[in-house]
Amino acid sequence: MGGSGTAPLAFWGLLLGMLVVFASEGLGMEEPPEHFLYQAKGECHFFNGTQQVRLIDRHFFDRQELFCFDSDRGKVVAVAEMMESDVKRWNQDKVFLRNWMAVVDICRYYYGIYEPFSQARRVQPKVKITPTDKVESSPHNTLLICTVGSFFPAGIEIKWFRNGKEEPKVWSTDLIRNGNWTFHIEVMLETTPERGDVYTCQVEHASFEGPITVQWEPQSDSARSKMWTGIVGIVLGLVFGATGLALYLKNKKGLIS
Ligand SMILES: *[C@@H]1O[C@H](CO)[C@@H](O)[C@H](O)[C@H]1NC(C)=O
Ligand SMILES: *[C@@H]1O[C@H](CO)[C@@H](O)[C@H](O)[C@H]1NC(C)=O
Repeated sequence: MGGSGTAPLAFWGLLLGMLVVFASEGLGMEEPPEHFLYQAKGECHFFNGTQQVRLIDRHFFDRQELFCFDSDRGKVVAVAEMMESDVKRWNQDKVFLRNWMAVVDICRYYYGIYEPFSQARRVQPKVKITPTDKVESSPHNTLLICTVGSFFPAGIEIKWFRNGKEEPKVWSTDLIRNGNWTFHIEVMLETTPERGDVYTCQVEHASFEGPITVQWEPQSDSARSKMWTGIVGIVLGLVFGATGLALYLKNKKGLIS
């Protein structure tokens, strides 16, 4: 593939040198100014991978765009009025146009280089639910925040469900760029949780086979006290167990010696 890329690349370089001369002629100057900036920007537009590729090769003298080559039209297009006569002349040269057309292969070449880490890049989001009781409008309400962090590409669909039924009134932060080729977003639901409710945050993203879900259930006071009872029970059990074991070992040692 590298071989097919180098020939048009060489053509491009040659062209650049040629066009600088053309461009300054076109500007009607005796000679180019001492300091000027010549820019060429090759835009590659891909439709469905490399199935259909459009090259728009833009040329600028200082900051003014003078002309571009558009592979869809197969010819050079004058952007600045003063380029019209030059462009007309170039467009009569079929070999010149055919060579420029071959630059489309550079686009295909670069697609192959960039595709693995841009087009094919997938980073799975980390999803978690955080409940907060600090809701100003109503003290009985809870704000459930579904945090979806570190994903790529940007396209994502996030929904809130309460007992299997979608909640339509949710709000969301803007899509945040982490600056390391990942995105971050939070979708919030304000609700009055009741005992036995099940809240679900559902995320659909290109990195998953299908939608994934994370659930949250309000903990009633009795559930909370049961949990503490359990924890205290385990701690007491461990303390007594350890004491018993120590005594047992001590006795055993006493018997042997
Ligand atoms: C995209 O390209 C694939 C083959 O690479 C083809 O099967 C598919 O039909 C194309 N889709 C569209 C929308 O043109
Ligand atoms: C990107 O940045 C975010 C936020 O700083 C961080 O949580 C995440 O782990 C980073 N991901 C990668 C792939 O570097």
